[in-house]
Amino acid sequence: MSNEIVLTGIKPTGKVHLGNYIGAIKPALQIAGASNGTALYFIADYHGLTFIQNRDELGNLSYGIAATWLALGLDPGRVVLYRQSDVPEIFELNWILSCLTPKGLMNRAHAYKAIQDQNEQLGLDADTGVNMGLFTYPILMAADILLFQSDKVPVGKDQIQHVEIARDIAERFNRNYGDTFKLPDYIVGENTAVIPGLDGRKMSKSYNNTIPLFEPADTLKKLIRKIKTDSTLPHEPKDPDTSNIFLLYKEFATPAQIQDLRNRYLSGISWGEAKQELFQAVNAFLEEPRKKYNDLMAAPEQIDQILHEGARKARAIAVPLLAKVKSKIGLEN
Ligand code: TRP
Repeated sequence: MSNEIVLTGIKPTGKVHLGNYIGAIKPALQIAGASNGTALYFIADYHGLTFIQNRDELGNLSYGIAATWLALGLDPGRVVLYRQSDVPEIFELNWILSCLTPKGLMNRAHAYKAIQDQNEQLGLDADTGVNMGLFTYPILMAADILLFQSDKVPVGKDQIQHVEIARDIAERFNRNYGDTFKLPDYIVGENTAVIPGLDGRKMSKSYNNTIPLFEPADTLKKLIRKIKTDSTLPHEPKDPDTSNIFLLYKEFATPAQIQDLRNRYLSGISWGEAKQELFQAVNAFLEEPRKKYNDLMAAPEQIDQILHEGARKARAIAVPLLAKVKSKIGLEN
């Protein structure tokens, strides 16, 4: 489809790490590059507010997300990059959709249920730490998606249910008021490999085992040295396909380099050497983006300019659709 709308949101809740890059950013940049329709990628700062309630932190993380995408090659001439909070129509639609969403649908959302289960295990009240923004998080996400008539929503597996909820809410609206919203589909990356963190578990902020993308080279080297390995001796042959180091290496090296390191594993390589190879590949890849990221973070007014231009383009789509929605519910002006 040539006028297909691809949309995704990125929540500013922590430093962007290698796992985010491999699992979400890289595939989303590929999708945007391949699409000849419209790609809308935004910083879900008001979703971030459900977790981050510190002024400097929320602001810096939001800039950090924008700078990350730009540094890694997002072309703001092709992809509409904006801040959710710069598009007030999203929040107006959020209320309209809230009134059409049964509370039970929110009770059943996995993210909310996971917090409740955790609280119960700790012997706490089920809703401890749950604010209303967190509870209704999927409705705001539905507004993000539906306001742009999105066809495709690239997300991680944990967000599939949220896109299904957006569909469900769109269907309810359409049933009651007549065909208005497109029903969105999610896209999940084919690369379903779990990206291992320093301790071998999935790389995740919540396990505190991440390798942040834009640390200085010597910090990157130190972190890579910390990746957990087994006790096979340096000269012993190693299985590349069960090695976390090799798995990460494959994401950054060329096919020839990958084949070469594979051979070295099979004939025996020390973990220290393998880590050095990984460091070199990751660092070579990140050198340019790191510089670009640091330059952007030192000039937030440049980021603002790009985001404001993005918001202008986004609102050119959002304003007429919201007007149509308001007229459908009986609030013509
Ligand atoms: N909830 C998503 C996440 O945590 C972020 C997000 C917000 C989003 N709004 C969206 C993703 C709309 C896709 C579409 O990753």
